[in-house]
Amino acid sequence: MKKINIVTLLLIASASLGFALSSQKTIQELNPVIGSIVPQCQKTLFDIATGPEFLKCIPFQRLLSHVAVLTDPKIIGKVLSDPNNNYKPILEEPLVNFSERLCSSPRCSDKGIENMVEAIKVGCESDLSRNQLLQFIFDAIALYPAIRDMICYKNEKVFCWNETMTTVFDLPPSPITITGNPLIDSIAVADPNKICTRCNKDIVTTFFTFINNNDLALQILRSLEINDDILNKIKSSIAIKCGIEFEEFLFFQMEFNVSNFNY
Ligand SMILES: *[C@@H]1O[C@H](CO)[C@@H](O)[C@H](O)[C@H]1NC(C)=O
Ligand SMILES: *[C@@H]1O[C@H](CO)[C@@H](O)[C@H](O)[C@H]1NC(C)=O
Ligand SMILES: *[C@@H]1O[C@H](CO)[C@@H](O)[C@H](O)[C@H]1NC(C)=O
Repeated sequence: MKKINIVTLLLIASASLGFALSSQKTIQELNPVIGSIVPQCQKTLFDIATGPEFLKCIPFQRLLSHVAVLTDPKIIGKVLSDPNNNYKPILEEPLVNFSERLCSSPRCSDKGIENMVEAIKVGCESDLSRNQLLQFIFDAIALYPAIRDMICYKNEKVFCWNETMTTVFDLPPSPITITGNPLIDSIAVADPNKICTRCNKDIVTTFFTFINNNDLALQILRSLEINDDILNKIKSSIAIKCGIEFEEFLFFQMEFNVSNFNY
């Protein structure tokens, strides 16, 4: 349960809260979905979910129609067991549709996200430490600015993440064993031109810019067992694979452009 990836996390959080909101109207009815939480926390979540910003920038009803596929652990497991053959037929279209919906909605303002994070910290203090789903929702909201951008980058008409997945899953297997993970090994020996794309630069830059000096983000990553050591390994693998140009970009062009979406 801990080693869940960030996109799955966002999906589960949206699906759960979205399900609660689209199918029920009262605060009490959130309980079966989120689990029992104190009334103050219920009220906090309800206020956020029904506030003016939230439903505009995270349009649950529109996002939900394909989430059943995406959050079914059997399907995720099936894809992960053989990503090269299963990504295209099973996941690509639902994920692209999900992204189209998310990215055609306005981006939540950073201020709005900050307020939601603060409200949950205060209103749900006692529940946060013991309710895992609530933690997921909190993490997804806190990481939203980065996740949303990483999901929404496009190269022409193709979502960057899809371009990357398509490329990676089409790579030939590595002739030698490096890490023992077939996918990582085939990336390691792949032609850098295939991997060090503009798209991946944008995604990587957004990620590292967002977590730079962001204590909350780092804390969340640590709770997902992604510690500083792993982050540094990722950074140096990227630098080795993609070279100084990619790395320079990483460290000097890091101004994270936060939303201009205001109310
Ligand atoms: C994705 O969206 C397209 C166009 O809106 C639609 O035709 C298609 O059925 C959708 N696919 C899935 C799996 O929902
Ligand atoms: C996903 O990416 C591949 C490779 O760029 C592209 O051919 C395909 O059309 C994309 N799929 C969708 C649904 O946009
Ligand atoms: C960031 O947003 C500002 C203000 O909307 C815009 O003028 C600027 O070009 C953006 N910067 C980048 C790097 O996208």
